Amino acid sequence: MPPWNSPVKTASRRTLFVLIAAVLLSVVAIFFFGPGAAARFLHRTASRHMAVGRFAQAQARLAWAARLDPQDYRTPLQQSSCFRRLREMGNWANALKVAVARGAPPAVVDLHQRLGEVQLGRMDDGLEQAIAHLTWLGASPDDLATAVVFGLLARQHPEAARNFLDTGVDPMPDQAQMDFLWGVYWRYQGSLSEAESRLEAALAARRGHEPARAELAALLEQQGHFSQALLHYQELAEQTGGRESVILGLARVLRHLGRFPDARRRLHPLALQPSPSPSVWMQIGEIEMDLGNYPDAETWLRRLRPEASMDSVLITLAARTFALQDKTGEAEQLFARVAALSDRGLLVYDLQQRLSENPGDNEAARQLQVLYSTPLPPTDLHLVAVSSPSGSDGTQSRAAELYAQHCGACHGATGDGRGRAARHLFPRPRDLRTGRSQLVSTRNGVPTPEDLEDVLRLGMPGTSMPAFDHLSQSDRTLLGRLVLEFNREGMRELLARSLRESGDAVDEEEIEAAVEHCTSPGELIRVPEISGPDEKAIAAGGKTYQQLGCVKCHGDDGQGGNEPAGFDHWGYPSRPRDLVREPFKGGRQAESIYLRLAAGMPGTDHPAIVGISSAEIVKLVFYVLSLTQEQDGTLTNFQRWVVSEPTAYRAAF
Ligand code: HEC
Ligand code: HEC
Repeated sequence: MPPWNSPVKTASRRTLFVLIAAVLLSVVAIFFFGPGAAARFLHRTASRHMAVGRFAQAQARLAWAARLDPQDYRTPLQQSSCFRRLREMGNWANALKVAVARGAPPAVVDLHQRLGEVQLGRMDDGLEQAIAHLTWLGASPDDLATAVVFGLLARQHPEAARNFLDTGVDPMPDQAQMDFLWGVYWRYQGSLSEAESRLEAALAARRGHEPARAELAALLEQQGHFSQALLHYQELAEQTGGRESVILGLARVLRHLGRFPDARRRLHPLALQPSPSPSVWMQIGEIEMDLGNYPDAETWLRRLRPEASMDSVLITLAARTFALQDKTGEAEQLFARVAALSDRGLLVYDLQQRLSENPGDNEAARQLQVLYSTPLPPTDLHLVAVSSPSGSDGTQSRAAELYAQHCGACHGATGDGRGRAARHLFPRPRDLRTGRSQLVSTRNGVPTPEDLEDVLRLGMPGTSMPAFDHLSQSDRTLLGRLVLEFNREGMRELLARSLRESGDAVDEEEIEAAVEHCTSPGELIRVPEISGPDEKAIAAGGKTYQQLGCVKCHGDDGQGGNEPAGFDHWGYPSRPRDLVREPFKGGRQAESIYLRLAAGMPGTDHPAIVGISSAEIVKLVFYVLSLTQEQDGTLTNFQRWVVSEPTAYRAAF
């Protein structure tokens, strides 16, 4: 189904009314003059809409004209114009072919053909010649200026485009169209505020100018002004009755605003159509990914066959989905495919450079031809094998194997927290070489082997650190030891570096002693028997909560105090936990909360309690538990990121 025919449901009442009026008018016209005349009437109204940038309305008229008089060549010809002005060049070429097949006069086809080619940047005889030719063929001022400006930008000649807009536009197009073209030019040049004001001027002159609104929406989205972009996409969705590119923009912006169900609802009707563009499935995949529904994300992305794709963005996304589901083998293979594509891209670039320096370089031309005509062979995702360094002793290589299989995608091959799936996660996977754990049971904040095993068995709720309860106890023990070894290595490096920097001699033995000291668990915190709670204990705990200053960070109601969010030891923003709704990293068992209060959470602002008895701490635990309400299941990885890292988020755009 062509996009302009998509669900009328999304069209506004006004659009609906206009459509009904058009139908009635055409019925009357058919009755009096026959279908051919009615189609011509629709062609004229379509032209009028196109002249003011209302392409969706024009396309709706043309769809009717096509039904009334299926053999008329004018309909596909006008449709090709719409596509060209909307920069849908594949559709443009197809529509033009249909017009030719229906017997469109060569002179008219020539004009449309030439306009499209100039717009694609094909003006080998030079700009002057191209303009003269188009004028001679009878191009309208709007069509001519649009084709030339886009063509020059496609050829990466912005100065020429500017020069043309400044002086060369004769006769002048419509003012709104001029503002639009200036807007496109400034956006191309990266002057976003000038682009914005030009596009706004275009819309002030012609509210219905679809390309100007689409450009402005994209510009606002590009700058991270999602709420503003949303308004424009919504208006476009109404105006166009649900054009695919518009719905995709709308869904993207809704996703960035954390409105996942809305984004999904918008996309699903498109996804169910016979041949939606790949971007639709990809966008749904991203939404499921943000929501943490990794298997669903995988299902959508698999439809796009990432293993045979040449689109690095798609392949990377699919690879991350695999990595997050502990399917490290598949993930690695896809990441390798991305690397191969990037090598290939470099090769193409080199060959193109060679050719541009020396157009007679036949060898370069031949190699380029071969590259273009042979796509990268599909990756066989079933050949799953994870390579891992094999150590001399059996247990070490087993640990390394387990680590490569289950942890490396997030924590990185060397434990530095920079695995390939890491970019997507908040909080970031821990740098295991900085030697600090948040969930500990010792006075000096160093984790015991049991602490590490607990983290592996239970995961860290509210983060993407998974629970590895499906591994055997002995595998978890091996992994815990490996983590400790990463800790030690990191510590060694740090000490040696700081000694070198301060000009001191590096004494290996001294370093080893220091490492031993820093990584040895200190006195264990004994957790008392906890039973209860009763009202009195909770009330007493509430008092302690005030007295110890918990209220400063966590607030009177447990949902956040006045202190601004700080940073943790690893440099990432760290908000005090919402004690009412958010999951606890160490879980909500009383014993675990007791440890978090008595030991603190090393590396974060959350302090260890000192100077009160264990009985008082137990009461405080009861108080914290009494604050718990239904947990907010919708807090996604993505939302944690947006809330905590708005600037990083914009920069990533
Ligand atoms: C999907 C990504 C992911 C995978 C897979 C993963 N982790 Fe983590 N891990 C995290 C994140 C995220 C955190 C940090 C959470 C934070 O800072 O609050 C973390 C934290 C940790 C910590 C710190 C615990 C503490 O008390 O502070 C350890 C240790 C750890 N991971 C070990 C492992 C090991 C071992 C594996 C493999 C068996 C593994 N992780 C697999 C994402 C992952
Ligand atoms: C200086 C600010 C600050 C103070 C004071 C503070 N906290 Fe926290 N608290 C935090 C931060 C920050 C976190 C989250 C750390 C992280 O995950 O990065 C946190 C986390 C927690 C958690 C969640 C533990 C888990 O497993 O995720 C609990 C429970 C908690 N605090 C209770 C308290 C209580 C009770 C007090 C008073 C004794 C208190 N906090 C004092 C900042 C503070």
